[in-house]
Amino acid sequence: MAVERTLSIIKPDAVGKNHIGEIYSRFEKAGLKIVAARMKHLTPGEAEGFYAEHSARGFFKDLVSFMTSGPIVVSVLEGENAVLAHRDIMGATDPKKAAPGTIRADFASSIDENAVHGSDSLESAKREIAYFFRTTELCPRTR
Ligand code: TYD
Ligand code: MG
Repeated sequence: MAVERTLSIIKPDAVGKNHIGEIYSRFEKAGLKIVAARMKHLTPGEAEGFYAEHSARGFFKDLVSFMTSGPIVVSVLEGENAVLAHRDIMGATDPKKAAPGTIRADFASSIDENAVHGSDSLESAKREIAYFFRTTELCPRTR
């Protein structure tokens, strides 16, 4: 087991439905610690840059439009196997296929408005954390 860090985003649909606290509560109950956090309203350029790997996909334009439709909460989560642990509690991309009790099953309405983002590998996590936070903005937990 290794302590990892992963990037989490509470997307505009979940922020709009006032689910920030309930989603944070799931992270904390799973043993993931929040070591950086910021609320922000993405510009189209910021959303395009973040999701650049999907730029050729048919859903890209709608994805950028959705991600800029309201504020988001961007966080860095730390814990044992944080990347996979976070993906597990998020559930599948399509909330219809997400396991009961996962964040997407409970809070998401559709595959394109699916409440949360989580890095899909340690490599993505490093890139995505650096996209939003300077190293000095990460707060190691000493207690
Ligand atoms: P993806 O990285 O495949 O999913 P995940 O968020 O689970 O890592 O896709 C990124 C986002 O793009 C996804 O959360 C929602 C959106 N998306 C769609 O709108 N339609 C789709 O068919 C897919 C695959 C993704
Ligand atoms: Mg992904």
